[in-house]
Amino acid sequence: MMKFSIAVLLGIFFCLERDSHACRQEVCRRKRTVEESDVTLQLRGCSGETKPWVRQVAFCLGMSSAEIALKMKDWYSTTYQLCNSNCEIVRAGTKKMNEITTCVNCFKARLVDANFMTSGDVTYDEIVNCLDQYIYAALSNELPSFQAEAEARGRVRLPTVRPENDWWALTVRLPCKPPMFQFWNAYCINSFADDVRAKDFVLSQNRLVFGRNIVFLATFNEVCRFDVSDIQVIWDESIPANAFPQLSSFPTSFPPRRQEHGNIFFNANAFGRLMETDDGFIPELETLNPKRKKRELIARFPQGDILRKIGIIMPCVVKNFEVTDRLGVPISLQNNQNRYLIDPSMLQTAESFVRTSEDTSTLNFTLDFGYSSTGCIFGSNEPFVVPDPPPGWLEGNKQIMCFQCIGASSEEECKRIGKAEQCGAGEACQSEIRRIESDKISITKSCKQSLACQNNQINNNRLQCRPNQTTSVCRCCCFKDYCNSDGSHCT
Ligand SMILES: *[C@@H]1O[C@H](CO)[C@@H](O)[C@H](O)[C@H]1NC(C)=O
Ligand SMILES: *[C@@H]1O[C@H](CO)[C@@H](O)[C@H](O)[C@H]1NC(C)=O
Repeated sequence: MMKFSIAVLLGIFFCLERDSHACRQEVCRRKRTVEESDVTLQLRGCSGETKPWVRQVAFCLGMSSAEIALKMKDWYSTTYQLCNSNCEIVRAGTKKMNEITTCVNCFKARLVDANFMTSGDVTYDEIVNCLDQYIYAALSNELPSFQAEAEARGRVRLPTVRPENDWWALTVRLPCKPPMFQFWNAYCINSFADDVRAKDFVLSQNRLVFGRNIVFLATFNEVCRFDVSDIQVIWDESIPANAFPQLSSFPTSFPPRRQEHGNIFFNANAFGRLMETDDGFIPELETLNPKRKKRELIARFPQGDILRKIGIIMPCVVKNFEVTDRLGVPISLQNNQNRYLIDPSMLQTAESFVRTSEDTSTLNFTLDFGYSSTGCIFGSNEPFVVPDPPPGWLEGNKQIMCFQCIGASSEEECKRIGKAEQCGAGEACQSEIRRIESDKISITKSCKQSLACQNNQINNNRLQCRPNQTTSVCRCCCFKDYCNSDGSHCT
């Protein structure tokens, strides 16, 4: 109950009298679409008064974001009025640092006598330091620029002022799913963004990469081909990418090599800090219910405990997957079919496991899809990554909920006639889109035994799935509650 009331108050603060439910997932974020020449500002939901920077500053101060929001609520609204004239130009969309600074200085000047400062748990300098790290990016209207370089190759140049700690993500939204999509100077974090589709790549950076340029290249086949100018790039400054596991680009060729190499980056300290400061904003990733937009906290962990595991659900069963530290020493890895549980704190020696005190925030992996026999292949946007999965996760016998409709003639009809279905242990959600005549399709969604579902999905690659041809069957599996409710996950 306590958690609920804080969330509601926070929602009011963020959204000024709008429904807090809508706020928590969709609104407390700032998303902007970057088009090649024509830049549009997209403030989503509520009134556009959303403030992801409060979360960021809370993270920086190591304090609860709900508490900070509550404490400064009155001060903030008064100061907002007082600084109206200094900040007008910011609201009008300036990119000039000196104009933004004038606005920020007005707020800073009124910080000294703020009532929440007198409570003594934070100092003026600490607040100013944390504001400096995040506020300029939040106020600047500078967007990444996106340049098409060749038919399938594009380059994104990031804004000069970005939120500290790489607290942002960039969605590269493709018109269809190419067999291979490579990117440089970025890592993939699809598991942690909302409303992503199978053809989206949600990218961010971490301390292993440098520079403002992210380059990407798509490889086409007969099913998917597009012009690079049809790609949409969405800039989102509210995803705490710094605290979630990230995957480097793979595969590097099509068909894939016997041994694909890549990195997993996970700053467990940042994750722990986020758990403590980001009240109610972290989804329990496996129970995210897109229908009810309900999010719950992952269980909290004892303070100072920074040894966190990483769970990975591959979209199909691969032949081999191994993980080592940077020097090549194997890391503890358990697996059950398409699920892998990595414990970066444990190194594997000849006979046993030993706990390591080394920094294992960067892991190297070797992946053999076994493509020629399994037909299993996917890009770095498709594995579902779970930081610190709950006990029993590896066994995968959790019973999830799926969306069910049988033989609907369209997504709309499926939504209308559909209902919830409780799956059996270890079952996945399947969507099947079958073209029965040139202008008629049949959509069936239901729970499906996990391995059978994955084998069906693999057949997509064997060209059963050709959406614009008379005989086509596309089947996709996913592993979260209601993950098959949306048409876009199987395209
Ligand atoms: C781990 O990955 C990094 C970056 O890709 C690479 O430089 C390094 O050589 C790899 N280490 C091993 C043991 O493969
Ligand atoms: C299906 O779409 C692909 C790519 O858009 C196109 O090349 C092909 O001709 C289409 N086939 C039919 C039967 O329309």
